[in-house]
Amino acid sequence: MAQEDVFKKVVSHCKEYGFVFPSSEIYDGLAAVYDYGQNGVELKNNIKQYWWQSMVLLHENIVGIDSAIFMHPTIWKASGHVDAFNDPLIDNRDSKKRYRADVLIEDQMAKYDEKIDKEVQKARKRFGESFDEALFRETNPRVLEHKQKRDALHERFAKAMNDNDLAELRQIIIDEEIVCPISGTRNWTEVRQFNLMFKTEMGSTADAASTIYLRPETAQGIFVNYLNVQKTGHMKIPFGIAQIGKAFRNEIVARQFIFRMREFEQMEMQFFIKPGTELDWFAKWKTWRMAWHQNLGFGAENYRFHDHDKLAHYANAATDIEFNMPFGFKEVEGIHSRTNFDLSQHEKYSGKSIKYFDPELNESYTPYVIETSIGVDRMFLSVICHSYCEEKLEGGETRVVLRLPAALAPVKLAVMPLVKKNGLPEKAQEIINDLRFHFNCQYDEKDSIGKRYRRQDAIGTPYCVTVDFQSLEDDTVTLRWRDSMEQKRVKISELQGIIEDNVTITSLLKKLK
Ligand code: GAP
Repeated sequence: MAQEDVFKKVVSHCKEYGFVFPSSEIYDGLAAVYDYGQNGVELKNNIKQYWWQSMVLLHENIVGIDSAIFMHPTIWKASGHVDAFNDPLIDNRDSKKRYRADVLIEDQMAKYDEKIDKEVQKARKRFGESFDEALFRETNPRVLEHKQKRDALHERFAKAMNDNDLAELRQIIIDEEIVCPISGTRNWTEVRQFNLMFKTEMGSTADAASTIYLRPETAQGIFVNYLNVQKTGHMKIPFGIAQIGKAFRNEIVARQFIFRMREFEQMEMQFFIKPGTELDWFAKWKTWRMAWHQNLGFGAENYRFHDHDKLAHYANAATDIEFNMPFGFKEVEGIHSRTNFDLSQHEKYSGKSIKYFDPELNESYTPYVIETSIGVDRMFLSVICHSYCEEKLEGGETRVVLRLPAALAPVKLAVMPLVKKNGLPEKAQEIINDLRFHFNCQYDEKDSIGKRYRRQDAIGTPYCVTVDFQSLEDDTVTLRWRDSMEQKRVKISELQGIIEDNVTITSLLKKLK
């Protein structure tokens, strides 16, 4: 199936099975805002738990906080967000549509890559077994021509972005003859900077000080609390503070479902360290975070690091962990060595000393910070895209199954009476009443057993139990495993032991190296 089709199917599957709904749907929706349904919220909570416990339970020197979304407006001045948290936007005068100038240019670069890929595919068909892709890419004149154009564009684009040269960004769009996808014209306005923060008013006074922002990242809540946590928790450097919470960005181009949203959730951890040790810690966190992702079993080939060429002025190293989504490798997490930029800025703007006293060195300093920052929604998207599977069964039937890691699945066990009478529903309820304290169970008595299995496959339930007449006699049931569809007869008293070991977040954490 083409990757584009997979993505469309995932989006409609998410809606049909209670994972993700467009927000305010009965009012025709609100762009780039989504609600999580009954299964979505469970999957999302499991992802959050996996992250939280891997940080806070498995690291003695990491603790969590939950800071407010509203913060003093000067925080965003100090952090640089008021002046520099911008995207370059451009309007098409004919369609009246607004675009990110950098995204238009990036899409243009992707078009050159697509042209190269097409040449490679054509040649592979032509040469068959004997095709040497590397040699073809190095020598084919058409490939080389596309590559030369792409590289020249990349260089020009990177320079314009680095120099913050908006006129040059526009010129690139003109020179590359990029057209508006809606109107098909090149009638572009100037490029302007657009601040991504949402503003609102606090209290009833009308002065400027009452303007506050919805936080665009959770990290600043950690920075401004770091000394509170350090002192009250008697933390010694190196130590980390983790937080999960909502963030808001007025994205100009919001697209690809829950990939780029205006309201989303982040899981961020700031690790406070001694200046000079940051590159060692950066390397360690890169390894640890990649291991966390790969522990889900989706295959190492589906992840890659993308080291940043262009560093923010406060960072001295930065990388993204990218996942192979149906629309290409895309950033899911950022790992940044942020120096002491944020803490120093907060010292400057607040006028308060927030230095750390190091008892071993007997001196005070402003710690450096390694940040790991991952979007819950993007993680959710990567998990669901990778797990979605359409399978041909013997007999020609197709089943849709979500091969979710069992520890992330919304429902762990479905209990089904074979028929809705003769004491079977009561027996099924008895099993659920016992097991519901250990993991999420669902009772299902509607439709044929086959249909019930399909429904559970479609939401990724790893185990199904069928209660039949034999169950009433010998306290055994049929246990079915989602992926192999294998069934076996087991004692009811053994169910908890068999299932629990495979479906808890603890089981996933234990596999982490
Ligand atoms: N504190 C650092 C920070 O916020 P970022 O790269 O801007 O860094 C971190 O964001 C992560 O947050 C991204 O890797 C992504 O997973 C998620 N994220 C950012 N913007 C998002 C959006 N508009 N919608 C969904 N997730 C987003």
